[in-house]
Amino acid sequence: MWNYPNFLAHRGGGKLAPENTIAGLRCGLAHGFRAVEFDVMLARDGVPVVMHDPYLGRTIAGSGNVFDYDAAELVTMDAGNWFSAQYKGETVPLFTQFVQFCKDHGIWMNIEIKPAPGFEEETGKAVASLTRALFGLEIAQDDPRQIPLLSSFSSVALAAALKAAPDLPRALLLDRMGEEWQTQARELEAVAIHTNHKHLNEALAHQVKEAGYGLFCYTVNDPARAREILAWGVDAFCTDRIDLIGPDFA
Ligand code: G3P
Ligand code: MG
Repeated sequence: MWNYPNFLAHRGGGKLAPENTIAGLRCGLAHGFRAVEFDVMLARDGVPVVMHDPYLGRTIAGSGNVFDYDAAELVTMDAGNWFSAQYKGETVPLFTQFVQFCKDHGIWMNIEIKPAPGFEEETGKAVASLTRALFGLEIAQDDPRQIPLLSSFSSVALAAALKAAPDLPRALLLDRMGEEWQTQARELEAVAIHTNHKHLNEALAHQVKEAGYGLFCYTVNDPARAREILAWGVDAFCTDRIDLIGPDFA
C-alpha cells in the first residue's frame, strides 16, 4: 500500500538547484512539485540540519565533519555557491525551518534520516522525536498525505525511530534488496521499501507488492525507465530531473 504522492523532487529541487536548501524547495515548487525527499543529520549539539554529506567540502566550503559544528554555525554556512554564483548566500537549513517551509506550501515530505557513521541511534531518535513533536496535529488527524514518511539506510536509526515515534510511518532504504529484506521490514514495522531502481527487477517488484509494502525507487531521471518500473508496480519515485519528469508524470 502506498498512500502518498507518487513523484518526488529529490533533495528539494533535484539537479536544478542546490540540494537540500530552501532554494531547492522553491525550485521544486516552481516545477509544480508538492512532494519532496531530503536528508537530515545531526549537528554537534544534536540539532538536526538538512544535509547529505557528513563532511564539509562538497556542498559547503571548509573541512571537517558536520558534527564538528553546532547548528548555529552550520546555518551561517553557504550551501548554494558550490552549485552556481546565483545561489550564493543560500545557507544550510535547520530541519525545523525546512519542515515549516514545506508545511506552509503544502509539500509532502519523505525525510531521509542520514546519520553520520557512529551516530545512527542518536540521529534516528532525535529526528523521529522532533518530527513527532512537529506533526502532533496531523498525526491526530491520521491523514497520510499530511504526515511525513521517515526512511533510512540505517536499520539502527529506523529501530530508534520506531521506539521514539511508533506512530510515524517508516520505510526501509536499500541500495540492493538482499534476501533478508522482508525480515528487516517486518522487524522495523516498515510500510514501504525504498530501493535503487538500478538494481530492481520485475520479479523483485512483484515480491514487494505481493507482500503488501509500498515500493519507492530512487533516483529515476529517465522518463522511459520511469514508465518501465511503474509498469512493474513501483508506486513512487524521486527524481533529479524535475524538468523532464513532472509531478503529474504518468
Ligand atoms: O532517499 C532516496 C535517496 O535520496 C537515497 O540516496 O544518497 O541521494 O540520499 P541519497
Ligand atoms: Mg536522500
